[in-house]
Amino acid sequence: MFDEPLHVGRPNIGDRARLRERIEGALDRHYLSNGPLVVEFERKIAEVAGTEHAIAVCNATIGIQVAVKALGLGPGDEVIIPTFTAPPTAHALSWIGLVPVFSDVDEDTGNIDPAHAEKLIGPNTRAIMGVHIFGRPCAIDDLTALGEQYGLPVLFDAAHAIGNTYRGRAIGGFGIGEIFSFHATKYINSFDGGAIVTNDKQYADRVRAMRNYGIPADRQPYTVDSIVSLGTNAKLSEPSAAMGLTGLEDMERFAEINRRNYERYVVELAGVPGIRLLSQLDNERANHQYVAIEIDPHAAGTDREGMYDALVARNVLVRRYFYPTCHQLEPYRGAPDVHARLPLPRAETLADRVLALPTGTAVGLEEVAKVCEIIRNVAGKRRR
Ligand SMILES: Cc1ncc(COP(=O)(O)O)c(C=O)c1O
Repeated sequence: MFDEPLHVGRPNIGDRARLRERIEGALDRHYLSNGPLVVEFERKIAEVAGTEHAIAVCNATIGIQVAVKALGLGPGDEVIIPTFTAPPTAHALSWIGLVPVFSDVDEDTGNIDPAHAEKLIGPNTRAIMGVHIFGRPCAIDDLTALGEQYGLPVLFDAAHAIGNTYRGRAIGGFGIGEIFSFHATKYINSFDGGAIVTNDKQYADRVRAMRNYGIPADRQPYTVDSIVSLGTNAKLSEPSAAMGLTGLEDMERFAEINRRNYERYVVELAGVPGIRLLSQLDNERANHQYVAIEIDPHAAGTDREGMYDALVARNVLVRRYFYPTCHQLEPYRGAPDVHARLPLPRAETLADRVLALPTGTAVGLEEVAKVCEIIRNVAGKRRR
């Protein structure tokens, strides 16, 4: 049906002339790293997130690692996360010897279930990390209360959620810190990149030093006594910051297009048997960078795989986000006693049923309508 493949997560690209100008500026200054564009990008991210501090990083995977290291976590420490998330949420922790402990999720939103998370708290638990899956804020209040009750820091993987709000406040200012991703497929991209945002000055200072080989911001340039901690190289480059800044300038346009597409999906898929659009919070700002549906195989007359095949055959390259769940993946499924206290039925069911549909600035309303027509035709063929 589509001559050209229709993608999920085709990059949103801002004004190319502005981007080129910024990159030319970096070349002229001979500052490709540690330069003014990153400083400006961090200021703008902090504005969007409503936080005092934003520390840009090379991607969110490394960002999660820096965020937990700055809390003092180390090998063997357990962090409770939802299993219905992108593998990097778990891998980031595992890669540095931490133990992700997988929680089940809310069956409607796919977000971490605080009641199940509480059951997983044990002697080795050192933190809880919620994920705002598909940009919908998770149960921030409940997780914050859980953290306070058990004396555990709470972080949020906000890879999908920049620009969104929870109880009228921007995502970014909750917990001890939140981590954004600016990967190419995200709402705002810096080619690759991310940021850790926080309102805690001391935490921000530790993060800032750790992302830069352990050198704090006020001890540049490098001297013999400038290293204050263990650190890595998690810096964002100047050209990446140029891309991020240019994207931020067009954020409202991206939001408008995404909202328009989402609303068309709502209209076109209303009443289709067995198809449920995953929703965003009412009366909150949402970037709608992800549009996901759940296919109930009993009502739709086809399962997710059937719908996936039908769409892909017509060049609609939908994605099975986030299937399989993390605890069903290597290396975690090989060690269920350590990594997951099974079962996690709601996450598994949702992961078996979800499809992410194309949206973003590269997708027009006519295309949305055509995608929905395919879905209606497939779901409409239910057996009676
Ligand atoms: C929920 C979630 N967390 C973390 C990441 C990792 O982000 P990055 O690609 O910037 O490392 C991603 C996706 O890329 C993600 O979807």
